[in-house]
Amino acid sequence: DEKLRDLLLAHIHDVPDYPQPGVMFKDITPLLADATAFAALTDALAEACKRHGATKVVGLEARGFILGAPAAVGAGLGFVPVRKAGKLPGATLAQAYELEYGTAEIEMHADAVGPGDRVLVIDDVLATGGTAEASVRLIRRAGAEVAGVVVLMELGFLPGRERLSGALEGAPLEALITV
Ligand code: PRP
Ligand code: MG
Repeated sequence: DEKLRDLLLAHIHDVPDYPQPGVMFKDITPLLADATAFAALTDALAEACKRHGATKVVGLEARGFILGAPAAVGAGLGFVPVRKAGKLPGATLAQAYELEYGTAEIEMHADAVGPGDRVLVIDDVLATGGTAEASVRLIRRAGAEVAGVVVLMELGFLPGRERLSGALEGAPLEALITV
């Protein structure tokens, strides 16, 4: 709702020219540091887990861990980390994706989710949509259903939603705020 959006927006700081000139970085650390705002965010994400009928929460390294883990606990669900390549000890599924320049790769333990699971992906920001799209593909390849993708913030001036829509196959993409 409007009150939640205002509370969240008030604690997200714009940092110009970070990490590169011309980029306006959205810094969520003031939001994390504010007990009231962070609890309101965590509650909203946990509520989204329940509303979308999730049985597991996937968080995307690194900032998606900070939001996804408390959301999973709040919703009474287990948490699954999707990590940057080379960080998980067990058998993994890997998914490469295109960045603006070059490619990146993320991994998930192959047995972390499977048939019968409905998995909700949580991250802080949807920008180009590449990271979220790769995570959706990983979840499907593991044999689980995608309950949806929920982000704190969607950068509405980038085509992330369009990029993600094919992979979602009708599953919802929800942004608590769009900037
Ligand atoms: C950032 C952000 C999202 C992703 C969004 O992560 O936290 O995960 O980029 O971009 P995209 O929609 O274009 O894929 P990043 O890997 O830069 O940093 P982090 O490890 O701090 O989360
Ligand atoms: Mg990230």
